[in-house]
Amino acid sequence: MITNTELEHRGNLFPGKVISFSQNVDKINFTTENGVILQITILRGSVVRFRFATDDNFEKDFSYAISEDGARGYSKLEVTEKVNQYDIITSRIKIVINKNDLKATILDLEGNVICKDDWGFHWEQSYEFGGNIVKMSKSAPQGECYYGLGDKPMHLNLKGKRVENWATDQYAFSKDQDPIYKSVPFYVGLHEERAYGIFFDNTFKTFFDFCHERRNVTSFWAHGGEMNYYFFYGPNMQEVITRYTDLTGKPELPPLWALGYHQCKWSYYPEKKVKEVTSKFRKLKIPCDGIYLDIDYMDGFRCFTWNKEYFPDPKRMVAELAEDGFKTVVIIDPGIKIDKDYWVYNEAMENDYFCKRADGPYMRGKVWPGECFFPDFTNPKVREWWSGLFKELIDEIGVKGVWNDMNEPAVMEVPGKTFPDDVRHDYDGHPCSHRKAHNIYGTQMAKATYEGVKKFAYPKRPFIITRSAYSGAQRFTSSWTGDNVATWEHLWIANIQVQRMCMSGMSFTGTDIGGFAEHPTGELYARWIQLGVFHPFCRTHSSGDHGNQEPWTFGEEIVDVTRKFVELRYQLLPYLYTMFYEYAEEGIPMLKPLVLYDQLDTQTHYRTDEFIFGNQILVCPVQEPNAKGRRMYIPRGNWYNYWTREYIKGGLEHWVDADLDCIPMFIKEGSIIPKYPVQQYVGEKKIEQLNLEVYYKLGNKEVSKVFEDAQDGYDYMKGRFSLRTFSFTGKENEIIIQQHKNGTFITTYETFKIEFIALPFTIGEIEIDNEVVPLTKVNFDAKNNTIVVPKGFSELHITAV
Ligand code: GLC
Repeated sequence: MITNTELEHRGNLFPGKVISFSQNVDKINFTTENGVILQITILRGSVVRFRFATDDNFEKDFSYAISEDGARGYSKLEVTEKVNQYDIITSRIKIVINKNDLKATILDLEGNVICKDDWGFHWEQSYEFGGNIVKMSKSAPQGECYYGLGDKPMHLNLKGKRVENWATDQYAFSKDQDPIYKSVPFYVGLHEERAYGIFFDNTFKTFFDFCHERRNVTSFWAHGGEMNYYFFYGPNMQEVITRYTDLTGKPELPPLWALGYHQCKWSYYPEKKVKEVTSKFRKLKIPCDGIYLDIDYMDGFRCFTWNKEYFPDPKRMVAELAEDGFKTVVIIDPGIKIDKDYWVYNEAMENDYFCKRADGPYMRGKVWPGECFFPDFTNPKVREWWSGLFKELIDEIGVKGVWNDMNEPAVMEVPGKTFPDDVRHDYDGHPCSHRKAHNIYGTQMAKATYEGVKKFAYPKRPFIITRSAYSGAQRFTSSWTGDNVATWEHLWIANIQVQRMCMSGMSFTGTDIGGFAEHPTGELYARWIQLGVFHPFCRTHSSGDHGNQEPWTFGEEIVDVTRKFVELRYQLLPYLYTMFYEYAEEGIPMLKPLVLYDQLDTQTHYRTDEFIFGNQILVCPVQEPNAKGRRMYIPRGNWYNYWTREYIKGGLEHWVDADLDCIPMFIKEGSIIPKYPVQQYVGEKKIEQLNLEVYYKLGNKEVSKVFEDAQDGYDYMKGRFSLRTFSFTGKENEIIIQQHKNGTFITTYETFKIEFIALPFTIGEIEIDNEVVPLTKVNFDAKNNTIVVPKGFSELHITAV
């Protein structure tokens, strides 16, 4: 047992005895004899902020991550002083602060310990940089599990790992490599059925240790800034994540086309090549909405310019692509070429918008265009200027989305692959060094880009994608997982990373399908597209170094598999859009790892491969070559195999057949799954009918939702959406489907085509809103068990012959 005195000898300092206490509405301050202040802020009954100062002195309170729109308010707050402790009680938790050492214990109202300080807050002074290395350690009871932390390419359950947050351009990263592109200092702990979360809102380099150094301890620390963390109580894991997402912000809805399929490569040029690719998609009838221009569309890699030799008339080309249903997305990197004949460079120089080194020179670094300077995106004036630069691209040329890359920021051929520590940043009026601004740089670039694209795309919605991100980036942008590799191991990583991002508040994420570096076999590509269509963002991308990665380059069999799965994604668009709506409205993760789906089932705690797409579709990718299927865990409840419609009981491992043209996929019983007809791109067809697949369930009600709107624009914010809530009740000889509709949007179709799956009886009579309707009037098709009914019903009652 190491004592505090021994630790002090190692340079660690600890809070002393509490000497004073005060409360100002939602803020409770404790001061210790050695100048430590702990400020506890009650944001909600289950969301509490802990902030520590040393030398009696807090920094100015500022955060890029916290959203202004988050819910605030609590119904109860009681603070009581006792002999050795203070008790703080909200409507959901009790916090005990020890008067001797400032340690905190957080309990639920039944007295179960949820999270308890081990050494609690301690720190080391940093002579080199000033300030402190701030540290927190908490007890880790046996069996506790840990999830979250963004894009870490390692086991979903982080128990036993130590990880670092420092945004890094990590080409061809490997399994367990750390850190990579993103920095999301948020994790969820789960112990004895109860979940809580911790968000350490500190943009310096941070570390998290989950029982790696000491078996019974988790800790987190930062190379500067304050010990400033938010605690979220569940006990339900999904609530922990929705509360974190509420605090750090939710996205607006993307245009529906952004949920379609995207095709990318480094790079498609000249114009003729782009057209060849897009035409081939249409010819082979593989649906596709997004087509990307990587860096070669620019003139010498100068952002906001065009290579006129390759793209003589971008406006015409973009319009022609749009005619054919393609939305053009272009890349924009942060590095601005040092070139006196380049207007972007000149404007930034005239206005002093580039980052500088500590002693005054500009931050100079090499990226694709050669020697560059870099805008300081942490300066609001720079963001304003940057957003204005998109006028021509968006407003005049008609580009629909912008892809922000290299924004860790990446610098070539230098140690650390990024800016040196001494680079200065404005940090929105809180001047600092790169040590503090590094992890937020990419998010601020994406924010500036988002604001520009939004302004010029209006009244349509913007689409932004970024590589680097910090907590809160989900308010502005989607993301992808960077430069992965065309290997089977990376398919495993891809599955984990997207699930993890969903648990970290950033659901709108995907991977480079097929792998960016190297070249996949047709089989690997097929298995990857089968997974990719279930990721919120779905794009094939490759470096192009080792051959092409369009579906047809792998031969006819793979084209067929790709078409089948991309078509499935397009059919499921209303389901996917509803998932997005629930994410945007309530912060509900779009994909749910099994532990998030059923935390009470300990079988799920170490599962990595299976996940729930939305709320009702279970998916498990095949991740090995030559497979004819795989073993997988089916979570508790009863399910239907989507392909065979076979009924299967959960809570057990099963072998599931899945030839190359199939992925294990199950529908939860009682679900009503909405589908659109296959379209080659979003908006190609007017939706004449909504298909509903009804999966029979005996017993308890099951609720399904369908969200629809104009698929773009902001009318949905004014109530012009249609949210249908269906509840299904199944008995032995009858079923009842009730519908409730919210919102004022009128959908384009008049009828639903309903297909009954696994109905245990033959349909004899149908009542719509209590009136019997002849079977012929609802086009009853006995062979397929389908009917067609008007969309406006409140209750559908179906009974056996
Ligand atoms: C980076 C990006 C990659 C892009 C390439 C060229 O490696 O991660 O997606 O294609 O740069 O712009």
